Amino acid sequence: MTQTLTLRRPDDWHLHLRDGAMMQAVLPHTAAHFGRAIIMPNLVPPVVTGAQAAAYKDRILAALPKGSAFTPLMTLYLTEDTDPGDVASAYASGLINAVKLYPAGATTNSASGVSRFENVRPTLEKMAEIGLPLCVHGEVTDHDIDIFDREAVFIDRVLDPIRKATPDLKVVMEHITTKNAVDYARAQGPNLGATITTHHLVINRNHILAGGIKPHYYCLPVAKREEHRLALRDAATSGETRFFLGTDSAPHTDANKLLPCGCAGCFTAPNTMSILAQVFEDEDKLGHLEGFTSLHGPAFYGLAANTDTITLTKGDVIVYPGHVATDEGPVTVFDPGYPLHWRVT
Ligand code: NCD
Ligand code: ZN
Repeated sequence: MTQTLTLRRPDDWHLHLRDGAMMQAVLPHTAAHFGRAIIMPNLVPPVVTGAQAAAYKDRILAALPKGSAFTPLMTLYLTEDTDPGDVASAYASGLINAVKLYPAGATTNSASGVSRFENVRPTLEKMAEIGLPLCVHGEVTDHDIDIFDREAVFIDRVLDPIRKATPDLKVVMEHITTKNAVDYARAQGPNLGATITTHHLVINRNHILAGGIKPHYYCLPVAKREEHRLALRDAATSGETRFFLGTDSAPHTDANKLLPCGCAGCFTAPNTMSILAQVFEDEDKLGHLEGFTSLHGPAFYGLAANTDTITLTKGDVIVYPGHVATDEGPVTVFDPGYPLHWRVT
């Protein structure tokens, strides 16, 4: 029996498109399924000013497949030198939809991020005043904090103080990976949202480390214990409007993943919708998939949901390519470890 599911076209509220040859190769995979995506600004050098975001947006639009209606939603990379006036005018002109906070050194290309949070206070206050959301990579970077505890410690030491000092600031806790983050989010008011990736619904830390190291499952924040994965699945499939999809699809070439010090990131753009349909079906929550992928995110960002739809059809096992070829080398597509049956048609 074929089963079909029609959803408002989904959006991706956290995506790495990179630039140049890499962007050219990965962008069509997102544009094939998604209407919009929040584009991460962690290029080298980062997208810090409105002018840089405008130029990056033009490069994305120029790289789109012909006829694609995909819309990139741009972000600025917050630094201690960010000019609140530049941020406000980029927002007022419709160029950006969020500002991204990376603690300095937390992840790929985050060296220009924030170390002294008091130095970004004027920008955060301006953002609260104009209603511009702050997207937060929520991990501390202290060497004495265990990597599996860095998200929970960030919530206590950094996020909660920011929330208390700037209660009107709209905040997105991005790519949450712990039950601690789920519980914290649930205790907040409606100006706190949280994105959840596809891969964190599928893997726990054993997938990375048990039976041999699997670099393609290594991303940041790193996947945690099974109890945390289960809390994320509960949150994502709950229908609660504060939780929405941010894939954090983060392509790196195999050459850069398979190193003694390999890059963090899972590339999920090609098969995200197939995996999510499977996850929601396994949780007996297919009826909540559209909220998670297509409705809660736009509502949080104050945008209308997409008006067109996509259809997922359940059938024979889908054979999808293990790699996407780029002029920089192959990029491995995330392998959920089980066969997928839902195809975007
Ligand atoms: C991201 C990247 O590669 O840019 N990597 C990752 O593991 N998620 C950066 C990030 O979002 O942390
Ligand atoms: Zn990311």
